[in-house]
Order: sequence, then structure tokens, then C-alpha cells
Amino acid sequence: MKNLLVTGGAGFIGSAFVRHMVSAYPQYRIVVFDKLTYAGNMDNLLPIKEADNYVFVQGDIASRDDVRGALQAYDIDTIINFAAESHVDRSILDPDAFMRTNSHGVFVLLDEGRQHGIGRFLQVSTDEVYGDVEEGFSKEDDRFLPNSPYSASKAGGELMVRAFHITHGMDTVITRGSNTFGPYQYPEKLLPFFTTEAMDDRPLPVYGDGMQVRDWLYVDDHAKAVDFVLHHGQSGEAYNVGGENLLHNIDITRRILALLGKPETLIKHVPDREGHDRRYAMDCSKLKALGWKRKWEFEQALAHTVQWYKKNDWWWRKIKTGEYLEYYKRQYAARLAAAD
Ligand code: NAD
Ligand code: DAU
Repeated sequence: MKNLLVTGGAGFIGSAFVRHMVSAYPQYRIVVFDKLTYAGNMDNLLPIKEADNYVFVQGDIASRDDVRGALQAYDIDTIINFAAESHVDRSILDPDAFMRTNSHGVFVLLDEGRQHGIGRFLQVSTDEVYGDVEEGFSKEDDRFLPNSPYSASKAGGELMVRAFHITHGMDTVITRGSNTFGPYQYPEKLLPFFTTEAMDDRPLPVYGDGMQVRDWLYVDDHAKAVDFVLHHGQSGEAYNVGGENLLHNIDITRRILALLGKPETLIKHVPDREGHDRRYAMDCSKLKALGWKRKWEFEQALAHTVQWYKKNDWWWRKIKTGEYLEYYKRQYAARLAAAD
């Protein structure tokens, strides 16, 4: 590996991966390739903007011209694909971009990568491809039962990765991450949304009874797991990357409020997300058997994250304007009006 194309590198997890890789591997050139959608943010890359082994290219993974141009210009030998439409609620309101980027875009990256003769292709995927797991823990060979347009589009992308490995012998690996939290996360996802809303004494719209279960993983551990699989994963394989830290939504909401010293009266139970998966839980023994270990304890990571949003309102206040407010209205106005 010499020249790495990191697609979606201006987003939440992609930028954490880039910040890590730029300092951990000075011998690699890290080319960030990002369309800069509403979720892409150059502020996420400010800490490494002076690094001499990092370059930024604006482009769309679903555009053959954009992808081919970057592969050729930087003699790319490795692709790590974080680029995606990533928010489940938006996939219910506006699904088109999800199919275009998460399914077709992955195909374009694979096909252009194959024609260019790249080595390893790493696809960043999600535990949501397994669908609702009422009990037990998903293993990598379990069948896909995605329930939202987001998770179905991610499953489609993954299946194309598998097809290119089997049909064309491409060197591919897949990571399936669980609910990730940390600094620089767009404030539409539960943790940064509730933290920043509570800081301003605004209502926290908990979907349904709040008894849904998610497995919370700190972003630096997720980013380092992608690095680990990139270097140690076996070709053609997928690896679950979980926090092994299952919590009900209502519990994580209460913990955020406690860390901020805010009252639980801010919690509003609102009508549920359509098709809402009740529980995700993964068995991570395959990745651990390869030697991967998480570094962060959940309590420490949560406190650090809440503190980061408190200290860095310059980062999120300017996001919560314009298109964000339009989205907030579409997603929450009627729900909050119908709150218990
Ligand atoms: P994000 O929404 O913060 O960032 C996505 C990035 O992709 C943005 O920078 C955006 O501009 C870019 N992008 C979108 N469409 C693009 C396109 N067509 N071409 C090029 N760039 C494009 O997402 P995230 O939370 O950092 O998630 C990154 C990846 O990890 C996604 O593939 C997601 O499915 C996966 N994942 C996320 C989580 C989580 O909890 N956030 C958990 C497991 C897996
Ligand atoms: O599991 C991995 C997935 O985690 C990733 O693949 C996705 O990209 C990522 O967005 C995340 O999906 P979720 O739907 O689980 O994340 P979100 O933060 O949107 O919601 C977490 C839980 O909180 C979920 O059960 C829905 C609930 N929720 C969320 C919001 C935004 C609420 O109750 N109210 C809210 O306003």
C-alpha cells in the first residue's frame, strides 16, 4: 500500500480514520475523496490540513469520471470506502440518494478500481444489514434482513463487493460497524443531536418507548478497527466491529442529561420511526481472534464526547442552520406536536 483513496473522508468516521492514518502511516499518501454533501465537512479535517501526506479531492463515488480521474491522478492502489448517505430517518424521507451512493456508487468504485488494477478494497458497512436481532448476536455468516431503505442500500453495496471478489478475484474486505459516537458527528444522529439540543434546553424526541437497543462504539475504536482489517483482514471476508456495549435508547439519553446536569423533563416520547429495528447486537469474536482490541471504555468515551460538544459549539452551531432546520421541521415538527 502506498496511495490510499479514502472516500467519505470528510464525514464523521471517515475523518477520524484519516486523522489517525495521516499520523500513523507517514509513508502512505492519503487521498480523501468526498462529494461534500450536507454531512461532509472540511472542518473535520482541519487538524491535519498541513500534513504533507494528505490531499483532498472533491468528487462523487457514483461518477465514473470523478473516480477514474482520482485513481489515475494519484496512482491509487487501495480504496477504503466510507462514502455513504448514512442517516436512517433521511432514507425514509428521501431514499433516492441512498440507492445512488450506497449501492450504485459502490459498484462504480469497484468497477473503476478493478479496471485501474487496484489491490485491496475495503468496504465500510453496518450491523444494520442483519436487521432486527430479537435475541442473540449476529455472526458474519448470518443472512441479511435489512429493514430500512438505508440498510437495504448498504446490503446492496456489500453484495456487489462479494460479487467482485468471487467473479473478478478482487482483494476485498468488509467491516460491519455498530452505532458509533464521538466528536465531529453530524448533529442529526442520537448522540450529538440530543447532547446539543439538551445544552440549549430543547426537547429530546425519543422514538416510541425508547426501549430499542443499540451497541455503542467509540469512533476512534471504529477507525482503528478499519485500519486493523485493512492490514490484517483475510481477503473475501467480513468482520463485525461492535462496542459490545448494549444500551436502551432511553438509558443513553438519561446518561447524556446527567452528564450535562439537565432535567429528564426534556425527554419527549414521540411517534416511532417507521420500520424501526428494535435491537442490534453482534458477535465480534472473529475480529478479536485476529488480534483486535478496543481501547476505550464506554463511560470514559461518553463523558469525553459530551465534553467535546460542550467545548466545540463553534463546530456544531453553524451546522444547525439552513438545510438542517428544514430537515428538523420535516422530521420532528409533527412528532413533537403529538408527543406524550
Ligand atoms: P457521514 O454521513 O458522517 O459521512 C458520510 C460522508 O460521505 C460525508 O463526508 C459525505 O460528504 C460523503 N459522501 C456521501 N455521498 C457521497 C458520494 N456520492 N461520493 C463521495 N462522497 C460522498 O457518515 P458516517 O457516520 O461517518 O459513516 C461512514 C460510513 O460508516 C458509512 O458508510 C456508514 O454506512 C458506515 N457506518 C456508520 C455508522 C455510524 O454509527 N455512524 C455505523 C456503522 C457503519
Ligand atoms: O447501527 C449502525 C448504524 O447506526 C449506522 O449504520 C448508521 O449510519 C447510523 O446512523 C446509526 O443508525 P441508527 O438509526 O441506529 O442511529 P440514530 O442515531 O439515528 O438512532 C439511534 C437510535 O435512537 C435509534 O434506535 C433511533 C433512536 N432515535 C434517533 C433519533 C435521531 C430517537 O429515538 N430519536 C431521534 O431523534
